[in-house]
Amino acid sequence: MDESLTITRVQRAAPCTIVILGASGDLARRKLLPALYDLDLCGSRMSPERYNVLGFARREMSAEDFRQEAREAVATYSRLGLSKACWDRFESRLDYIAGLDKPEGLSRLRARLEQIETREGRAANRIYYLAIPPETVIESVKKLHCGGLISPPKAPGFTRVVVEKPIGSDLNSALAINRALLDYFDESQIFRIDHYLGKETVQNLMVLRFANSIFEQIWNSSHIDHVQITVAEAEGVGTRAAYYDKAGALRDMVQNHLMQLLALIAMEPPVSLDAEAVRDAKSNVWSALRPLTGDRVREQVVRARYIAGQVGAESALGYLQEKGISTDSRTETFVALKLSIDNWRWSGVPFYLRTGKRMQRRASTIFVQFKRIPQILFNRNAELPPDVLTLRIQPDEGFSFDVIAKRPGLDLAVKPVRMDLRYASEFEAPSPEAYERLLLDIMAGDQTLFIREKSVEQSWRFTQGIIDAWHEDQHMPFYDYPAGSWGPQAAEQLIAADHRFWRVV
Ligand code: BG6
Repeated sequence: MDESLTITRVQRAAPCTIVILGASGDLARRKLLPALYDLDLCGSRMSPERYNVLGFARREMSAEDFRQEAREAVATYSRLGLSKACWDRFESRLDYIAGLDKPEGLSRLRARLEQIETREGRAANRIYYLAIPPETVIESVKKLHCGGLISPPKAPGFTRVVVEKPIGSDLNSALAINRALLDYFDESQIFRIDHYLGKETVQNLMVLRFANSIFEQIWNSSHIDHVQITVAEAEGVGTRAAYYDKAGALRDMVQNHLMQLLALIAMEPPVSLDAEAVRDAKSNVWSALRPLTGDRVREQVVRARYIAGQVGAESALGYLQEKGISTDSRTETFVALKLSIDNWRWSGVPFYLRTGKRMQRRASTIFVQFKRIPQILFNRNAELPPDVLTLRIQPDEGFSFDVIAKRPGLDLAVKPVRMDLRYASEFEAPSPEAYERLLLDIMAGDQTLFIREKSVEQSWRFTQGIIDAWHEDQHMPFYDYPAGSWGPQAAEQLIAADHRFWRVV
């Protein structure tokens, strides 16, 4: 018997055309096309019966070639695997035109869109997915406007635009992108993606906190000692050197994914599940975040870069030896920070965050460590470990609670035990990929899991303090860590200085 309670259903999306700008690129190949295919295969009750995907990029290729590339991408990256019947249906949705970089490209796009809409007999419902480098976003949005491809929010057919993180590379460029977007679109038409928000376990953070009575009572500085968020990757910079070397771990991960996780862990209960209420609650966390600037950055932020080492059984190059990275690069691949949230709930509770590439293994985990009990009963003579709630975002999705229990026997011996929930064994249905959920929400027009203008500004304002401090003080320490480790010693010291230590699962 299925005892699950459905709180809200995904709204059935209207038929539409998804135009992927940059359709021949990495994001489209690895994430978007496989996610759309998987939605078609498993979520046919959810995705619109009739929608089309129109690839639009610089590269000249036929629609047939595009379909062939999409097939290979789906075969490689689809969660559910290629099946003939589903592929035939999905393939019939795919079309392609070149000309993203040509003056006549936009009129070709418009003509093809109109052709599709007339053929399908439907309104001009269009989604422009900007799977393009951040520095080309403003120009592309202007082109869409000049090509007459953007309808106002109240028009009979909807126009939506999807923008990937990172939005900008610093506060000013983020503000410029937001301004340009808002010159041509209404905020209700803009979907700024942070794919972490589409992850099943990240969505579970809110359910865990607000659908259970036990946690909310103790979710505050009276009971919580500190919170740790680790997002560790075993992968190195891979094929993304050109982007990554300009970005680094702070811009690539902290400004967006880690800030989102922090907000979900620390926010007050939203007044409802409406997009604005949830986004307000998160925004209040960032408003209360104590800025890190100047000397505080030296004390509370550690940056580092990997050198050659061993990740699992494989030996890994150092960052400076990676293809496409200049030998005088000063880009960090690891950041650890200690943060404070100056509000009633979190006063005095430190939040430790760390993220890095080429770490010992892939592990995104949040640890909530509770305060120790008074030393009166079982811990009179021996220190007992504190209770810890561990939220495993990936891999091995789930959560566990470490508590103390009596060991069976005639003597009184206690020992830490773990109560553990694993998604894979508890739930039959596998979790959808983040992009499946997010694409469906975009088609349905639900902005809850997307970033609004003010939030982009808030998270950049915070990050900018660190960027400026690093820039102004060239002597600010910059550490190395061996690939395959958990980061530099300095990160251990950052937390050890408070008599705590980084936890690992
Ligand atoms: C992306 C970053 O946003 O997230 C990448 O640009 C990073 O550098 C990736 O590898 C991590 O995502 P996930 O879903 O694999 O944890």
